[in-house]
Amino acid sequence: MSGEDENEMVVTPWEVRGKIDYERLIKEFGTQPLTDELLKKIAKHTDGLHLQLQRKLFFSHRDLDTVLDLYDKGTKFVLYTGRGPSGPVHIGHLVPWIFTKHLQEKFKTRLYFQMTDDEKFLTYDENKLADMTRFGYENALDLIALGFEPEDTFIIYDVADIDLLYDVALEVAKRITYSTARATFGFQDSTNLGWVFWPAVQAVPCFIHAKLTGENVPALIPAAIDQDPFWRITRDVAQKLGYYKPAQIHNRFLPGLGVGGKMSASEPETCIFTIDSAEVVKRKVWNAFTGGKGTAAEQKKTGADPNICTIFQYFLFLFEEDDGKLSDRERKCRTGEILCGECKRDLTERINKFLAEHQKKREKARDTIDKFHIKR
Ligand code: TYM
Repeated sequence: MSGEDENEMVVTPWEVRGKIDYERLIKEFGTQPLTDELLKKIAKHTDGLHLQLQRKLFFSHRDLDTVLDLYDKGTKFVLYTGRGPSGPVHIGHLVPWIFTKHLQEKFKTRLYFQMTDDEKFLTYDENKLADMTRFGYENALDLIALGFEPEDTFIIYDVADIDLLYDVALEVAKRITYSTARATFGFQDSTNLGWVFWPAVQAVPCFIHAKLTGENVPALIPAAIDQDPFWRITRDVAQKLGYYKPAQIHNRFLPGLGVGGKMSASEPETCIFTIDSAEVVKRKVWNAFTGGKGTAAEQKKTGADPNICTIFQYFLFLFEEDDGKLSDRERKCRTGEILCGECKRDLTERINKFLAEHQKKREKARDTIDKFHIKR
């Protein structure tokens, strides 16, 4: 999907913009909606539903039902997710990782985590390989700070660990034609050769567990829906290679602090990085788009719309666990009882409290990071 219109929805692994229509994505990508029936099936294993599921922040899947059925019959699965380390981690990236941690705890299963320094080198002209590799290390600290344990968490740094990936990447690449890749990813005549091959590398961790342990089990991938095109081509070749098709559970995008699109590091002023200082967070949140009215008097009279407010989305996604308090805030916003300044102050406080803790854990992770490396 691409086009000239600024408001047009564009969702690819390398670009997300416009107003995101999730129903339309389910149809166009050919995924399945996360139904109440499937949520019940998950809840059976997880002592009730995780907040991100209750709030429908995860909304779509591929083969999650199959993976759960297999699990019931005694075939475990592994988790797989990742990060393209082109800069610091932002709080949107934490959304699928927090959920991954929850699944890992409940299903007691391994996580393979891919750091794609190679991808970020190949797909942006200005990026230097050594910088991407360094960010890979720095971004791993954020993952570890969320509480993952080394016993069942295996981080793959693509450039350093390519010897583990290359044979399977070749098997995958040989079975995907250029015509399929172009149709899936929108490659152009000007796309460099490395980028055209690269999707085969993101496919490999779906199968790495079988390669390392000899145990052939499916992978379940929690990630935002922008990554789905990778899984389409991977699923096409999986069975030809003797593996299960990887399953997915897709989350919505935490929006940026501006209008439309997702939180994206390419717009740093609308993006909260995990390494931002309290002052920087305060400034960014203060400048956020809320859709509030022109004057306080007007807003007190007519209220505002939490549906279009970025600040409200941050409470919904990450910073208000109490459903009662969330709906109270929503109601007060609609009736004009609470003004944007107050919500911004509350959110700044919540984010800074979270980041102060996270940043401490992130620094501590420097002591243990080597234990998470797949080649430990
Ligand atoms: P990357 O670095 O673009 O994104 C890392 C993860 O964060 C998700 N994401 C978001 N989720 C919620 N709100 C947002 N605003 C937001 N922005 C990004 C992404 O979907 C992703 O899950 N090619 C990948 C790296 C990768 C990978 C994987 C990701 C390799 N293997 C397997 C997921 C699963 C990338 O550049 O992700």
